[in-house]
This record gives sequence, C-alpha cells and structure tokens, in this order.
Amino acid sequence: MSLRAVRIGPSIMTADWLRLGEQISAAESAGIDFIHLDVMDGRFVPNISFGFAIIEAVRSITSLTLDVHLMIIEPERYVDRFVEAGADVVTVHVEASKHLHSTLQAIAAAGAQPGVTLNPATPLVALEEAIPLVGQVLVMSVNPGFGGQTFIPGSLDRIRRLREVIDERNSQCRLEVDGGVKASNIGRIAAAGADSYVVGSAIFAPDVDVSSAIEELRSAANG
Ligand code: DX5
Ligand code: ZN
Repeated sequence: MSLRAVRIGPSIMTADWLRLGEQISAAESAGIDFIHLDVMDGRFVPNISFGFAIIEAVRSITSLTLDVHLMIIEPERYVDRFVEAGADVVTVHVEASKHLHSTLQAIAAAGAQPGVTLNPATPLVALEEAIPLVGQVLVMSVNPGFGGQTFIPGSLDRIRRLREVIDERNSQCRLEVDGGVKASNIGRIAAAGADSYVVGSAIFAPDVDVSSAIEELRSAANG
C-alpha cells in the first residue's frame, strides 16, 4: 500500500504518433499527473526518438507538467532549448554529464526543475550528492532506450535504498520510477518507496484503453 500521493505520467514513447493529440487528451481526461517525454540521441542510448518540435507540440495542447527525460550525451548543451520548448522538469543522466552539478544549476537557472537519474547498473552513490539540487530523482528500472521492456526486479531494492537516503537527507524530492511499470507490479514499487510512475506500454499500446489502464494503475498503486 502506498503512503504517498500517487503520481502517474504516461510516456508518449509508445503512443500512436498519428493520434498523439487524441491519446494525450484521453490520458488527461483520465486524470494523469504529468506527461513524460523521452528524448534519445542514438549515442547515449541505441535509439533515436524526438526533440524540440514534439515537445513544443505537446506543450501547445496541455498545461500539465512536462517531464523531459534526456537520454543524450552532454545534455548541458541543450538545456535552454528544452526549457524554451516547454519542459517543466528536465532530468539528466549522471553517466551523460561530466559536470553534473553545473548542469543541474543550469536547468534551474533556465526556469525548470532539475531531475537526476542513472542506469540500472550505476551505483546509487553516483547521485547522492545531487539530491539537494533536484526536485526529482528517477530510478531507471530498465536499460534506457526502448519502451515495452520488462521491469528489472533488482530495481525494487534500489528504490528502497534511495528512499532511505532521500529521507535521511530530509529531502522533499520526488522518487520516480521508469521502465516496465504495470498494474501487476506498481503496488510493490509503491511499497518500496516510489511516488511517481512513468508508464509507457501499459497505457499507450494497441488494444489498451487509456482511461481504464490509468484507473487500474492508480488503484493498484494505492493498494
Ligand atoms: C525507456 C524510457 C521509458 C519507457 C517507458 O528508455 O525512458 O520512459 O519508454 O515505457 P514502458 O512503460 O513501456 O517501459
Ligand atoms: Zn523515460
């Protein structure tokens, strides 16, 4: 059972691109809390997704929080452009930015909330010192690059340990989880200490009804 308010945000990565506006409206009517946008450069991850134009397009149809997850090398080069395009939260990988502290400061200076994340095999200690600088810590529960992958079970222990670190430091930052989140595992993810859930293929996929999928996820997260 979750002790925390449950925040659910669909990732448009697995949406039907020709019906993106319609799918976002359906998710918004079903009461989502934010929209997650996965930017991939074909260098940091072995896939290329989308950039500024799609973020601007999504910005033009919603006032929900746009949670931009940068899976790109040297994200500091593009922080201002992503904020101008409409990002409210910009999350960068510890593996991708050499001067993480200044990158996070640059995100805040550009007017967005900084977030930090790391790949499944990167030790959690790599982001601990960044906690006071961010509004959100993201635990990747798959190897970044593709939607529709299976949740890595060891992520639950990482979420638990990170929750302890966040609480020990008296930080109010959100603990978000991304990758393989489904109605069948979201209860355990919540119990481990997460509060924000990125969901791609369990919301946007052929034969999935957006509204009932969101309702099911929310009730499973609330136990
Ligand atoms: C993976 C992305 C995720 C992913 C979520 O690199 O960061 O946001 O698309 O999709 P599912 O929920 O299908 O794993
Ligand atoms: Zn993501």
